[in-house]
Amino acid sequence: VVPKLVTLKDDEEEEDLDPDKVKVAVFFGTQTGTAEGFAKALAEEIKARYEKAVVKVIDLDDYAADDDQYEEKLKKETLAFFMVATYGDGEPTDNAARFYKWFTEGKEREPWLQQLAYGIFALGNRQYEHFNKIGKVIDDQLSEQGAKRLVPIGLGDDDQCIEDDFTAWREQLWPELDLILRGEDDADSVSTPYTAAISEYRVVIHDRTSTLYDNNHESIANGDAAYDVHHPCRVNVAVKRELHTPESDRSCIHLEFDLSGTSIVYGTGDHVGVFAENCDETVEEAAKLLSQPLDLLFSIHSDKADGTLLGGSLPPPFPGPCSLRTALACYADLLSPPRKAALLALAAHASEPVEAEKLKLLSSPQGKDEYSQWVVGSQRSLLEVMAEFPSSKPPLGVFFAAVAPRLQARYYSISSSPRFAPSRVHVTCAVVNGPSPTGRIHKGVCSTWMKNATPLETHTDCSWAPIFIRPSNFKLPDDASTPIIMVGPGTGLAPFRGFLQERSALKREGAELGPAILFFGCRNRRMDFIYENELNDFVDQGVISELIVAFSREGSQKDYVQHKMMEKAAQVWSLISGGGYLYVCGDAKGMARDVHRSLHTIVQTQENVDSTKAEATVKKLQMDGRYLRDVW
Ligand code: 2AM
Repeated sequence: VVPKLVTLKDDEEEEDLDPDKVKVAVFFGTQTGTAEGFAKALAEEIKARYEKAVVKVIDLDDYAADDDQYEEKLKKETLAFFMVATYGDGEPTDNAARFYKWFTEGKEREPWLQQLAYGIFALGNRQYEHFNKIGKVIDDQLSEQGAKRLVPIGLGDDDQCIEDDFTAWREQLWPELDLILRGEDDADSVSTPYTAAISEYRVVIHDRTSTLYDNNHESIANGDAAYDVHHPCRVNVAVKRELHTPESDRSCIHLEFDLSGTSIVYGTGDHVGVFAENCDETVEEAAKLLSQPLDLLFSIHSDKADGTLLGGSLPPPFPGPCSLRTALACYADLLSPPRKAALLALAAHASEPVEAEKLKLLSSPQGKDEYSQWVVGSQRSLLEVMAEFPSSKPPLGVFFAAVAPRLQARYYSISSSPRFAPSRVHVTCAVVNGPSPTGRIHKGVCSTWMKNATPLETHTDCSWAPIFIRPSNFKLPDDASTPIIMVGPGTGLAPFRGFLQERSALKREGAELGPAILFFGCRNRRMDFIYENELNDFVDQGVISELIVAFSREGSQKDYVQHKMMEKAAQVWSLISGGGYLYVCGDAKGMARDVHRSLHTIVQTQENVDSTKAEATVKKLQMDGRYLRDVW
């Protein structure tokens, strides 16, 4: 689905470098493509401003095959930029994980990067506890290991406008780069102002008799066992069930993907990445706004007809030829608020000058407040914005390159254990369906797809999706007799269902199980107590020693999992301090943060220590891998 970015081959570099040229490496650690886009944009601008610069955009994972190679290669860099996102619970993105581990857990050594000047732009979201942790840690480490920081780290905040943060950071960079990269002849002149060109693919329209037909998106599996985000595997939906009762006004779906016939393996606690499709209604609306027929067969290309590469920061094209229906369903993010760069591209193709002006304003620094209110604050989707500017009809090459970002895989904590369901991956998914501030009913792409999916158990022509497994550290203790405490309200229950299936299997095999307390939370016993019967069975089997449920909307006061934990403080702490593990899964911004605070209070009161000591104790638990979080 998302072909891998092509980077220069290792041996194409240093040897042939003209001595007047300066090599610039722009690394990215990206999960959803934003950091990658910024890396490419930065590279483009450096290239445009400085003739001396030979710029490479590098996926951190592709940079080196092993740790020694990281070291060897990094020693040779003299000018490098890092665009790195922080993801999940203060974690590096998948493609930066190996580099991050090596770089930050490296052996003690003398400063060895004195030859290197660098800049970092970090991507994160201020709403999360570990705001931009990865960028900050890499920045500290680079500096500690002797590299020279050219400009202060840029702290991109996706809760506001991360593009503005990036622009502001870049502005500080040019005076510094002028000193390093200006040619001697133009040493006195000012750096030329630079306007990024709007990216655009070359589009080829295919006629319907073309021998290539529209099923490329179905055959993405690469045939080997290593399925990943770039090589997902097509699997069928075997089972679908609604987990809420009809009394509930919300929906939560239990879905099972069928792994039989594939080589996919997974572990309890891992995540599954799912490439879903936009629903028909969304796809049809998009085609209407673009004034294009859904059965148009086309392909997009990032090179010119003569094979030379097109300029600009183009994302890798999706497979073609495909119909516009497929392209819009599978590859275009149509429901997120558009980025400023997208508004600029829409402006360039608006035939009504008033519309073009308004779009330009929204994308400009002067339009900052309006953008943050009208677009971000109101959660206006791309389609909603396009509907407000009907004269803007970007051609498909522009639409897919600069207006609609690629539709990303959505990640779910797997709610089964391979010991119980070796050829199935279970997912427990809360359906996102509610009014946005503008009154639009926002339907989450993947949860809506799951809700509408046709399972194999009811129809042979069932739904399927490209999926892949993302391994996690959220694992049961090696020794089944170690006590565990699980905290997972709502769909935060998902990985624990897998844990419990695994414990049940272990018990059947004769293992001695340690105590296991599960704190679950939902609104109301009659509506959203998901998997209630299964959980009761686990209690009966002795797989759960205590099931404690907080019902938040049954009484006059909110009762949450952390309140229940406080009531059981002595028992909770006795298990943890005696070597037990604490697991928390669910919403990061609210629940997990509140549970974290409660844990801190529990330590403080139970151990009778001050706040600083309690914090150190909690930190130590985390460092020891006995307080694990799977939060989003
Ligand atoms: P609420 O919706 O009634 O506020 C699963 O979503 C459960 O988690 C619900 O019962 C929900 O309660 C509850 N919840 C919401 N915010 C929470 C928080 N900050 N901490 C713990 N539980 C929370």
